[in-house]
Amino acid sequence: MRKFKRLSLTLISAAMVLTACGGGGSQESSNAATPAANQTEVNKPTYNFKLAHITPTDHMWHLAAEKFKSELESRSGGRMKMEIYPNSQLGKEADMVQQIEAGSVDFGLITAAYLSSREPSFTAWFAPYAFKDLQSANDARSTEVAKKILGTLDSQGLKGLDYLFAGQRVMLFKNREVLKPEDMNGLKFRVTPSPPLQDFYKSLGASPESIALPEVYAAVQTGVIDGMDMDLDAAITNKYHEVTKFAAVTNHMVWPAIAMMNKASYEKMPDEDKKIIDDSIKAAAEFAVSTRAAQEEEFRKELSDKGMKVYDMDVALFESHIKQFDEKYGPTNPLIQEFIDTFRK
Ligand code: BEZ
Repeated sequence: MRKFKRLSLTLISAAMVLTACGGGGSQESSNAATPAANQTEVNKPTYNFKLAHITPTDHMWHLAAEKFKSELESRSGGRMKMEIYPNSQLGKEADMVQQIEAGSVDFGLITAAYLSSREPSFTAWFAPYAFKDLQSANDARSTEVAKKILGTLDSQGLKGLDYLFAGQRVMLFKNREVLKPEDMNGLKFRVTPSPPLQDFYKSLGASPESIALPEVYAAVQTGVIDGMDMDLDAAITNKYHEVTKFAAVTNHMVWPAIAMMNKASYEKMPDEDKKIIDDSIKAAAEFAVSTRAAQEEEFRKELSDKGMKVYDMDVALFESHIKQFDEKYGPTNPLIQEFIDTFRK
């Protein structure tokens, strides 16, 4: 009898602990809905999310990640918490995506450039000169074709949430002032390992070298490369002004990161929480683009104050290269063609 009484007391206490921590017990993913001691609203899940990305903490994507975190916390009344792992702390983008697929990391800000090697429709974002400025690229987020491209991640167990833009792409040169595409002839040029970007530089006559962001500084410093495809933000945050003399502000391509999540974790969430995620990432994306667009002049001046020659190159110089991209990539994929048809007007 005494044994039975002890057993029932144990069962009752276990049930009380589960009720206190389980947030309704409706969520099962590893980080999402981790039981939290201070549950703020009865019967609503609490979450301890992890987000990973590759940029340093002063890059726009990290600032956007922090904005996302604060929006999640305030919109959820403290039920959603997030830890951010910047600077490739959790590995390369391929590793991060794998961790998101496995559910050990909840969110990633992953470059469209990397994704273009897994899912060809992301190539569309590298149509040269598809947008007149950053704001127009940002407006494209809400188009049908942009949403369809995000939707292609579904089949990989990923939920594409939104696009976050850093500055547009520019060209940095170690020693040579390149004023026209022909001046690129034979230059060893760092290009992100992504087929459309590599093709663009081949069409300019350069020899593209696939080098991931963390190795770029040493590569240019030691003369392995003569220049790089980059954005002004990363030029500053990675101090490339120390190792390159010329910055051609071509703004030839946009540079979106895809905010993504494990699809099953997203789908298990109550609608209220899905909406908090959707609205928070949207607020972060808007914050990123408005902050970044306002920094263009400041970034140019900063590089110039640090000793670089910063200059423009006219889009007219690249007309044949634009045509080459459209003719080569449009027919390979209906979403790339739809993208070209939507934005080349
Ligand atoms: C790059 O690989 O060029 C890059 C990646 C992330 C942010 C900025 C630049």
